[in-house]
Amino acid sequence: MYFALDYIQLIYKEENKRGDYSGMIKFDYRNADALVVGSENGLNLSQEFDNYKDRIAEIIADLNKRKDKPGQWLQWMNLGYSEETAWYVKEYAALVENRFDNILVLGIGGSALGGIAVTEALLKPYWNLLSKEERNGAPRIFFLDNIDPDYMSGLLDVLDLKKTLVNVITKSGDTAETMAQFMFVKDRLEKELGDDYRKNIVATTDQRMGILRQISEQEGYKTFVVPDDVGGRFSVFSAVGLLPFALVGIDIDEITNGIKDMDLALKNTDIRENIAAQNALIQYLMDVKKGKNISVMMPYSSKLKYVSDWYVQLWAESLGKDMDLDGNHVHIGPTPMGALGATDQHSQVQLYNEGPNNKIINFIRVENFDTNLEIPKIFEYTGTGYLGGKSFNDLMNAEADSTKVALSDYARPTVTITLPKVDGYNVAQLLYMLEVQTAIAGELYHINAFNQPGVEQAKNYTYALMGRAGYEESAKTLQTKMAAV
Ligand code: PA5
Repeated sequence: MYFALDYIQLIYKEENKRGDYSGMIKFDYRNADALVVGSENGLNLSQEFDNYKDRIAEIIADLNKRKDKPGQWLQWMNLGYSEETAWYVKEYAALVENRFDNILVLGIGGSALGGIAVTEALLKPYWNLLSKEERNGAPRIFFLDNIDPDYMSGLLDVLDLKKTLVNVITKSGDTAETMAQFMFVKDRLEKELGDDYRKNIVATTDQRMGILRQISEQEGYKTFVVPDDVGGRFSVFSAVGLLPFALVGIDIDEITNGIKDMDLALKNTDIRENIAAQNALIQYLMDVKKGKNISVMMPYSSKLKYVSDWYVQLWAESLGKDMDLDGNHVHIGPTPMGALGATDQHSQVQLYNEGPNNKIINFIRVENFDTNLEIPKIFEYTGTGYLGGKSFNDLMNAEADSTKVALSDYARPTVTITLPKVDGYNVAQLLYMLEVQTAIAGELYHINAFNQPGVEQAKNYTYALMGRAGYEESAKTLQTKMAAV
């Protein structure tokens, strides 16, 4: 039957130069279909794909047409092709190789979450606890993405700053949290290293604007650029992510190959062959037609745990909007949530199965783990003996499958993205696919997915509260409002 042929999509063919697609990620939407979860909670996807065929084709063509135009905030679609950035990043990483034991990344939101997600996915587990030899001589990496004073001073208690390269990242160059962190760390560096401290700082920021750019020029720091028209949450494949990745020895060519292959695949305007368009439409229709306004991202892989945090920001900041593109107050946006399989089967799945049927769950599965770990054949005389001789890999995937089936028994819709393995190529494909999915969903919701007025509002109030020049009026308003609360 038509639907059965459709349900697993392994795409991407002749226009893609690499030729071999057996290793690309797959998307399975069968369990979001009414045929599986019933018409009250599932979609007639074959029908919906037909209904939205033209609209989706128009959106994809339009995004690809607009992407090079200034002011469209679509430059992230070109990042995989930026050979210049990759070259400069690699050159600098080679220059500082063996000079540092630690990389300390300072940043918040889009300036941190992609870096955390990718390094957690691609570095050996417990990287910072491995010896230098076990890390192939590469440094440890720490991300400071909050301003908790206990954590900040605690981290500096355990880092030898002389052997630490500090990568401060802020696109705007102004964010209070990042700049406060940087002021604290720079002060310590200067006290410990004297005039030489500048060699331990590299800044990633806007090309022209912002206080960090000004400071970097005055102080003479090495800098990298967050390109124009790349928003924070879409910046992981700019120097924001590529620099920390290269500094810890991650192969950034593998990453850019993954992005380029996925980008070529996602240029396909046919919804039946475009997984980002399919999932954007499914998430959108589940929200507006079926009342599933919570989108859960649930990887069955500890390495991919922080992809959920990155996705939560991407989905929330991009799609949670007051105004639509016609200026109407719409207050829309699905609520993203992160969960981890199998861990959260023992925490959240009770709610997913039996609580309100208001979620669409995005499973991420990994076909092949790096390690093939067998459960020893012991305790055979007990009720736990059945586990002996099985692999943890099989157990993990059995957990994903059984949760998916249990959810469908309760008429709860799910989709599944499968990665052949967790490597740079596949993780880049996954993240890029989710970025394109977000952009398409933004168009379906008819909102601007690339601004964040709600974040800016809170940022401005913080500046006012902390006495920044130019924010005096806001400070007065704020004081009045706070007194009234
Ligand atoms: O996605 C976004 O634009 C935000 O989450 C920003 O990344 C975050 O507010 C940090 O901004 P900046 O990089 O300017 O310090």
